[in-house]
Amino acid sequence: MSEIRKAVITAAGWGTRFLPITKAQPKEMLPLVDRPIIEYSVEEALQAGIEQVILVTAQNKQAIEDYFDRSPALEHFLEQRGQHELLKIVQQVGGRADVCYIRQKEPLGLGHAVLTARHIVGEEPFALFLPDDVFIGSPSVMQQMIDVYGERQGSVLAIERVSVEDTQRYGVISPEKLSDRTYQVKDLVEKPAPQEAPSQLAIMGRYILSPKIFDALERTTPGKNGEIQLTDGLRLLLREQPIFGYEYQGTRYDTGVPLGWLKATFSLALDHPEYGPALREHLRGLDIGD
Ligand code: G1P
Repeated sequence: MSEIRKAVITAAGWGTRFLPITKAQPKEMLPLVDRPIIEYSVEEALQAGIEQVILVTAQNKQAIEDYFDRSPALEHFLEQRGQHELLKIVQQVGGRADVCYIRQKEPLGLGHAVLTARHIVGEEPFALFLPDDVFIGSPSVMQQMIDVYGERQGSVLAIERVSVEDTQRYGVISPEKLSDRTYQVKDLVEKPAPQEAPSQLAIMGRYILSPKIFDALERTTPGKNGEIQLTDGLRLLLREQPIFGYEYQGTRYDTGVPLGWLKATFSLALDHPEYGPALREHLRGLDIGD
């Protein structure tokens, strides 16, 4: 089968878990150190050799489009001032990725958001990124998944083992172990009650999907919270094609909630070559108790 050339990144949610700031600011544009959250997904896609990024947005998300666009006025301003380093950074952001945009016109769920990308993805397997989940790993988590896809030739879901209590926050698979980190998905369910979870293996925000998912999503009826759920679409796809779960190697931050965002901010800033040492020094000086 062909290589993975296209990525869909969903950025259409209201960001209710991060109100009130998300009232006027797309959550995807909140900074993680010095870059917006969404840039981490775009970078991960580019590094995995993906050529085209399809961003599914919604109302009030224009800041994302402006960010990945060129800005002739700003570039001119920086050039005139001789601020060449900044100019380079600004040009890189606007010029690197081939990004196109689709608007999800109603908040009908993740499955529906993915379906809106159908005519741009076409008939080829593609990568899906949920940008709230920021992964730090080497090779990147998407690269790991593309490698598994190369071996197994089927849809691949990023999997993490979570506590029984936390299963209700995620899609959860019923697994059959194939190798150290790879599972055959026997069934899957969206946000089960802990006592009904088929395992503790939860789906995280990276997927490689067969284009057959679109037919499955067309047939998917509203599920949890009255939304068209991707997990329910995958369940229909499973009747026709195998799906694999892959326990990724790396660290995940849920940046869609304030605490997860704070943890990501501190961890990444401490690793940052310029800010890390000074931040470490500052933290040492604080009285943070035990
Ligand atoms: C979505 C998916 C869920 C998945 C999760 C990963 O849920 O519906 O299956 O486990 O992303 O972050 P959401 O976080 O949008 O509620």
